[in-house]
Amino acid sequence: MIPVADPRRALEESRRELDEALERVLESGCYVLGPEHDAFELELASYLGVEHCIGVASGTDALEFALRAVGCSEGDEVVVSANAGFYASAAALAVGCRLRYADVDPDTLTLSAETLAPVVTAVTKAVVVTHLYGLMADLEPIVDLCHDRGVALVEDCAQALGARRDGCAAGSWGRAAAFSFYPTKNLAALGDGGAVATDDDEVAERIRALRQYGWKEKYSVEVSGGRNSRLDELQAAVLRSRLPHLDGWNARRREIVGRYRRALRSAVGSFVSGDGDADEGYVGHLAVALVNDRAAVRAQLHDAGVATAVHYPIPDHRQPVWRGSYGEVRLPATEYACEHVLTLPCFPELTDTEVERVCDALARL
Ligand SMILES: Cc1ncc(COP(=O)(O)O)c(C=O)c1O
Repeated sequence: MIPVADPRRALEESRRELDEALERVLESGCYVLGPEHDAFELELASYLGVEHCIGVASGTDALEFALRAVGCSEGDEVVVSANAGFYASAAALAVGCRLRYADVDPDTLTLSAETLAPVVTAVTKAVVVTHLYGLMADLEPIVDLCHDRGVALVEDCAQALGARRDGCAAGSWGRAAAFSFYPTKNLAALGDGGAVATDDDEVAERIRALRQYGWKEKYSVEVSGGRNSRLDELQAAVLRSRLPHLDGWNARRREIVGRYRRALRSAVGSFVSGDGDADEGYVGHLAVALVNDRAAVRAQLHDAGVATAVHYPIPDHRQPVWRGSYGEVRLPATEYACEHVLTLPCFPELTDTEVERVCDALARL
């Protein structure tokens, strides 16, 4: 079976670099918030072209802290998309916010100014825009909308690290931006990890406090909502050793999606993205197609030795946890996507032979 993802292969390819990085940490005797972590924060900030990056324990924590740091607290209204795995919803719920769901653009499957305009209200405190499957949302009109309505924009860049539009990186457009380094992400840790990026000194200061019990200084708790959520030294060292490879790996992901895209007949379905470049807002992450008959396509690909997955099958507003309280909400593009998206194998270490086999299987559908 050709897997959808296989983090072991990245390990094999750069074993020596990883061993050196891990050895440095083991020898240092410093395992939390030490030199690797500090260097990684600076290197990521410089890569993104932002003032501050703050390492935290996961992408979901990064989203939660970003929301808190831009001023959200219990009872505040936050607008998010509903086709992106409930991560933004979980973060907003952790803060105690009320969620409103906006539909996504049917072509990009990301929020747009058009889909947000009717949903953002006078009391909305923040909007979380999730860049999905490696593709950045069309941010300029969204930035304008948020600015006009006095709403904080938070970007979820967990699936789009390295993408740029108009020379500005995903993660540099909003008041704060969240990143995840989950092992299948474009920049992957060997465990959990995350970061928040921001140009705003006060937001950065609050996040540094939130990730460590609310401390402004050691043992002086000044920010509420804080807890322990730190990026440890081992993960930071792994991420530092991998960051210089990120653009090359992203290019390989794009190449793979591009090849799949050319192999799939339009009568069967179409890829959500796959054209364009990192500078046009697309890095490649998951290879996701909208297919007409998902069950049949999955079965055929399975028989051809190609594993598939679904990101994501249940829209946030239909999750059982709500017990029907969003029953009246209709989000046609979101609901359609959740029924028709299909993820194919896509990671930089896929061999050309494997990519060819997936293309052959797609062409035969
Ligand atoms: C779009 C998106 N946001 C947030 C997250 C949450 O990140 P984490 O798993 O590191 O908490 C993920 C991935 O897991 C994601 O894909």
